[in-house]
Amino acid sequence: MSDFTSDFWHIYVGGLALVSIIACAILLWVSGTTKAATHADNTTGHVWDVDLKEMNNPLPKWWVYLFIITVVFALIYGALYPMFGKFQGALGWSSQGQHATEVKKAEDAIAPVYAKFTGMTPEQMVADPEARAIGERLFMNYCAQCHGSDARGSKSFPNLTDGDWLGGTGHEYIKTTIANGRTGVMPPMAAAVGSAEDVRNLAHYVLSLSGSPNDSVRATLGKEKFAACAACHGPDGKGMHAMGAPNLTDGTWLHGWGEDAIVRAVNNGFTNHMPAQSALLNEAQINVLASYVWGLSTKPGTAQ
Ligand code: HEC
Ligand code: HEC
Repeated sequence: MSDFTSDFWHIYVGGLALVSIIACAILLWVSGTTKAATHADNTTGHVWDVDLKEMNNPLPKWWVYLFIITVVFALIYGALYPMFGKFQGALGWSSQGQHATEVKKAEDAIAPVYAKFTGMTPEQMVADPEARAIGERLFMNYCAQCHGSDARGSKSFPNLTDGDWLGGTGHEYIKTTIANGRTGVMPPMAAAVGSAEDVRNLAHYVLSLSGSPNDSVRATLGKEKFAACAACHGPDGKGMHAMGAPNLTDGTWLHGWGEDAIVRAVNNGFTNHMPAQSALLNEAQINVLASYVWGLSTKPGTAQ
């Protein structure tokens, strides 16, 4: 239930709670029974502002009863709920337990909404306006902060509408990515390429692959250095899903383009991470959401 590794804090917290309640009860009892020394006129002898005298009257009854009720309430509360350190309380209540019950209740309530989609193919879901509407709402809640509300992404956050994928294709790939997240890793490659001049030449060769503006002399010089990149990006630079390495020939740049951007890529590499969503979304939700995302770059009727 708690993260404490020793019993000390349980005893400390539980003891403190119990001692405070007992101290309140004692204070109540003592102040109700002990009589303070008073003068004959029932004052304590303290006078303020010329004529303001402190009397020694008993506490009002309603106030005393209220005080007794709070002490009794605290003891009953402590017996029912986790208040005294590790003691769970007679009701066995816990905030995690309550959270789990509420999550379960919410999931039971939405299960029928999703039930009709589980039997559908991704194509059918893409064609279904209700599935698309639910998928879009899920996307706005869970994905838009990184991929943009139009799913077109931004620097280092992939565009999900262009049909250009890092690590696979189709509905299954998108489902797996949502559930488990993914990490794209390119190691720093400068040492394998050579001098700073070699890296610049290689950058121009990479730019030439997509027909981007480049210095053709440098590109020719850099061509052979691309051997260091071929293991992941493929000998022709068209990328490799198994390595998560993007196509360098299509003019789509996840991390920015130009000589500087590519030199930086080679020198520093990348570690680009998308967190797993399986703790936030259940399987049925991921299924509908994946169809929505897949539909952004796929027309209904086209094969996966
Ligand atoms: C915290 C930011 C973040 C959130 C939230 C996030 N993503 Fe991502 N996503 C990324 C990053 C970064 C990548 C690229 C990872 C890489 O380079 O391998 C990525 C990659 C992907 C890919 C693979 C793209 C490709 O080209 O292969 C898909 C599909 C995807 N996200 C879908 C989603 C969906 C659907 C959601 C909502 C549940 C979501 N993402 C939420 C940051 C995020
Ligand atoms: C070990 C595999 C690996 C090797 C070797 C490798 N890369 Fe990469 N590269 C990747 C991966 C994976 C990514 C995508 C990182 C991500 O998910 O954000 C990437 C991304 C890039 C990008 C960014 C593409 C974009 O769309 O913005 C460039 C440019 C690049 N690599 C160039 C090179 C060059 C040039 C070499 C050779 C010196 C090279 N890479 C070697 C795996 C590799």
